[in-house]
Amino acid sequence: MASINRSDPIILGHLLAEHRELFLRMQAARSTLADLRPPTARRFADLRAGLEELREHLRAHFAQEEQGGFMEESIARMPRLAPAAAAIMRQHPALLAELDALIERLSGGDISDEAWARAGRDFEHFSATMSAHERSENAVVQEGYNEDLGLLD
Ligand SMILES: [Fe+2]
Ligand SMILES: [Fe+2]
Repeated sequence: MASINRSDPIILGHLLAEHRELFLRMQAARSTLADLRPPTARRFADLRAGLEELREHLRAHFAQEEQGGFMEESIARMPRLAPAAAAIMRQHPALLAELDALIERLSGGDISDEAWARAGRDFEHFSATMSAHERSENAVVQEGYNEDLGLLD
């Protein structure tokens, strides 16, 4: 089923661009949380709004991945990648749930220093899980691409 008509570089480029954009959004939330001045209701509200935007972006990104937008071609030609890709896709609901829980905790009206610090810790945990997830995706697509080019021979 191998074919010379490769769109992997485009898919890989698209995936990497999407992941870069998500990374920048996560960086923005991280720098907001790194500001440890006594938090105000306004700063909590802004943080929450930023995380809700990130959440919506993630939901759309995950949906696109689940519909086969990124890995479909690699998998079609390299069926051995399918189990790894499927396992990665199965992480999406837990990632969204983790972010939802963080946003939910920000909605309780607690604007203490401790609530802010906790949001920072929660976000770092989420961010680490999310980064590992995206690295796995990049690796699957990259592996398929390298193998196509014979780089793994
Ligand atoms: Fe994903
Ligand atoms: Fe992704």
